[in-house]
Amino acid sequence: MMEATARAYTNIALIKYWGKRDEQLFLPMNSSLSITLDQFYTTTSVQFCTCLSADIFILNGQLASEQETVKISRFMSLLRDLSGKKLYAVIDSTNKVPTAAGFASSASGYAALAAAGTKALGMDSDDQTLSKIARQGSGSACRSIYGGYVEWQKGDKEDGTDSYAHQILEAQDWNLSILSVLLVPEPKEVLSREGMKRTVETSPFYAGWLDTVEVDLNTAKSALQQRDFEMLGNVLEGNALKMHATTLGANPPFMYWTSATLDVMQQVKELRATGIQAYFTIDAGPNVKVLCQPKDEQIVQEKLKDIPAVQDVYLCHPGPGITYLPQSKKKN
Ligand code: ADP
Ligand code: DP6
Ligand code: CO
Repeated sequence: MMEATARAYTNIALIKYWGKRDEQLFLPMNSSLSITLDQFYTTTSVQFCTCLSADIFILNGQLASEQETVKISRFMSLLRDLSGKKLYAVIDSTNKVPTAAGFASSASGYAALAAAGTKALGMDSDDQTLSKIARQGSGSACRSIYGGYVEWQKGDKEDGTDSYAHQILEAQDWNLSILSVLLVPEPKEVLSREGMKRTVETSPFYAGWLDTVEVDLNTAKSALQQRDFEMLGNVLEGNALKMHATTLGANPPFMYWTSATLDVMQQVKELRATGIQAYFTIDAGPNVKVLCQPKDEQIVQEKLKDIPAVQDVYLCHPGPGITYLPQSKKKN
């Protein structure tokens, strides 16, 4: 049987990937840095069969829309080209994370698919190859191949062969707490892909983003090496704010925040005023992630839960890279 099941965990960007220089190959304008989380993941089973004449995509137990199927088929064709096997597949994927809500379902989704798909085809790919493949499903997915703290180096080559992620620190090297604050579980209006494209093409503030993102990345990497939480917190919060500022200058303009997003940001500032080190970051969506040290995670979680607009607060820590599951466990 040509089938395999893999699991990949989502990642939260500390220094954001925002903008592509090549949309076909998913080559980013800037390098980025993330933490792979231990609580949110995607499990994907891929089964190739000569009996199929098209790919079938089941997402969260339901047959996916035609639009989603076209999207995933494009990625499956990449696997077909790489393996030389012209076979279609049933892709059965379950997100243990809200889909398309700014919790990085595309990252865990395409990392799991790259791993399960290549394994089912008998491709035996190493992590670097998997990272380059996953990148071509969703840029942020190239980082979810690895656990812990991960950098995606943008690369310089036009063919993308030097654009892949690598691990900077293992999960156990520095245990930080990441509180994922759920405000709105519904899919966002402007998908990451569309949002970054519009920003690159129309926002006058995008140049300012590019001017400082490499400096931010170097500061964050130094902070990781020194385990300097305050330094890391300041740079990650500033970097997130700059990313979101670029969307306001786009045409048509857009913003991912709601008033609830601001409530969380305000609470984080208040915590800091009382001497608790906590810092926020926000991806493409209204939901917020708050970073703190394990000694403060309880109090920070309580304070966040007290905010009326907050539906839930999930406590995460740095998590693992991709894992393969035996076929008997594929429904887990
Ligand atoms: P998110 O913040 O969740 O990453 P994006 O806008 O980046 O949101 O991506 C959402 C898209 O990712 C979905 O519309 C879908 O195309 C894709 N996606 C989500 N989950 C999966 C999955 N398990 N397998 C394949 N693709 C997925
Ligand atoms: C704001 O990887 O979801 O979360 O490559 O178009 O699929 P595509 O976009 P995606 O973008 C993520 C954007 C971000 C920042 C980040 O994760 O680095
Ligand atoms: Co995404």
